[in-house]
Amino acid sequence: MPQALPPTLAEDVLNARIRLPRLRERITTPEAAAAWVKDGMTVGMSGFTRSGDAKVVPVAIAERARQSPLKIDLITGASLGNDLDKILTEAGALARRIPFQSDATLRGAINRGEVMFVDQHLSETVELLRTGQMGPIDLAIVEAAAITEDGAIVPTTSVGNSASFAILAEKVIVEINVSQPLALEGLHDIWIPGRRPHRDPLPLTSVSDRIGSTAIAIPPEKIVAIVISDKGDSPANILPPDEETAAIAGHLIDFFANEVRHGRLTPSLQPLQAGIGTIANAVLAGFADSPFHGLTMYSEVLQDSTFDLFDAGKLDFASGSSITLSAARGKEVFANLERYRDKLVLRPQEVSNHPEVVRRLGLICLNTALEADIYGNVNSTHVYGTHMMNGIGGSGDFARNGYLSIFATKSVAKNGELSSLVPMVSHVDHTEHDVDILVTEQGLADLRGLAPRERARTIIANCVHPDFRDALSDYFERACLRGGHTPHILEEALSWHTRARDTGTMHATKRTLKVA
Ligand code: COA
Repeated sequence: MPQALPPTLAEDVLNARIRLPRLRERITTPEAAAAWVKDGMTVGMSGFTRSGDAKVVPVAIAERARQSPLKIDLITGASLGNDLDKILTEAGALARRIPFQSDATLRGAINRGEVMFVDQHLSETVELLRTGQMGPIDLAIVEAAAITEDGAIVPTTSVGNSASFAILAEKVIVEINVSQPLALEGLHDIWIPGRRPHRDPLPLTSVSDRIGSTAIAIPPEKIVAIVISDKGDSPANILPPDEETAAIAGHLIDFFANEVRHGRLTPSLQPLQAGIGTIANAVLAGFADSPFHGLTMYSEVLQDSTFDLFDAGKLDFASGSSITLSAARGKEVFANLERYRDKLVLRPQEVSNHPEVVRRLGLICLNTALEADIYGNVNSTHVYGTHMMNGIGGSGDFARNGYLSIFATKSVAKNGELSSLVPMVSHVDHTEHDVDILVTEQGLADLRGLAPRERARTIIANCVHPDFRDALSDYFERACLRGGHTPHILEEALSWHTRARDTGTMHATKRTLKVA
């Protein structure tokens, strides 16, 4: 039975938000909507780096799981906000989680083997679903700013995988979020690839091209429930730049200036992709005072720094899959969306991260490493090679295909006890073949065109913290005595990690290091 409308929601607001009259009869409570979820279902939910997530139905699903056993496979765009992964994990509602997360409670359950986590390139998830390689989606739960006259869904602050979830699922639940501005309508560009074997090229040749529609077109009958919500997105949780991130930004700005001097780049550089987080944000913030101008972004997440660069007149256009801002910046930006409207587009993540487009546009890709090794292999996901941090996210989509693939990290972690540059990474997300530039606060290693032994010398000389430089150099020189294209002392290659696991530090006496 249709429920009474929330008393605070005026009729004209409702009519503007749900413009296909017959769908207004589908308005119900979160609890009634959650009743569509059955044990064992695969549920596709909106949400990408804390933005545009369905916010109230997931909480009702968790409540149901607390009452009686209910486990789902949950697929999203990327990480969720509003503690949703924590709430669902604590309720025991998650059997499987795909393709990315960044929640401490869920991380714990993954690392205890209680939740099966599939850590996937973000561009690939819906491609696997579309081709039936990952099973059907039973139910999609999507946050929307509005439903159009035709029953199409207007997403909010992220597109992520929402469009394909709604298209592929049998049934769709829509959360109309009245706290998300209606002005978001028109920002999105929904384009879905055709079926093989006659798939056309993705027709995007410039960051600002619009190739699709502004809403997700589905048969309106698939919408089985509509829930009204007014919960905001969780704000970004990035830290302000510190001395080290500012130094990393400085090294990169100098590097780009040198590329311009040598005619390999123009002052507009190439379209920029930057991973979420403090380092990427600090580097982008550094562009505000740089000689570069006429910049563009073709990225996943648009952060505070994107809008700072717009305001500084440095950035001409930004394409992303979500807008994830700090609380203060979010208030300003969403209250003045008109100011940015003609400079922004939000796309499905399979388009924002599409290898074809990343290669065609020639992106400069900046992502973060947990650790890298002397040859430039990068671990972005596994602490000590075994324990999941967040996931690979979009970093692999971009790193393999970009014009320039840059990885940044502070040279040490855990108060200087761990070196982020190690003999051999304990898990590989990005192979040496995908890494052009490695940068820490110590300096920048330009690895382009270098063979493994040259890469090692460059990384050790430029990126390693002085407290670990001699030890790493010693390892490399002794490895070279054994020979090989990529020399290693296999019985010692992971000894820095096992020492840290056992003692909490990678620091060692010379005697321990020289055992081999
Ligand atoms: N060994 C063990 N732990 C390490 C470490 C290392 N070499 N380097 C960092 N850490 C720990 C930090 O101490 C910190 O731990 P804490 O949460 O307990 O304080 C945690 O890892 C995060 O490190 P931090 O320095 O705060 O960096 P960050 O927040 O920028 O995160 C990644 C770094 C790699 C975890 C993060 O960027 C990520 O998940 N990347 C993969 C996904 C991705 O690249 N997405 C963007 C694509 S568009």
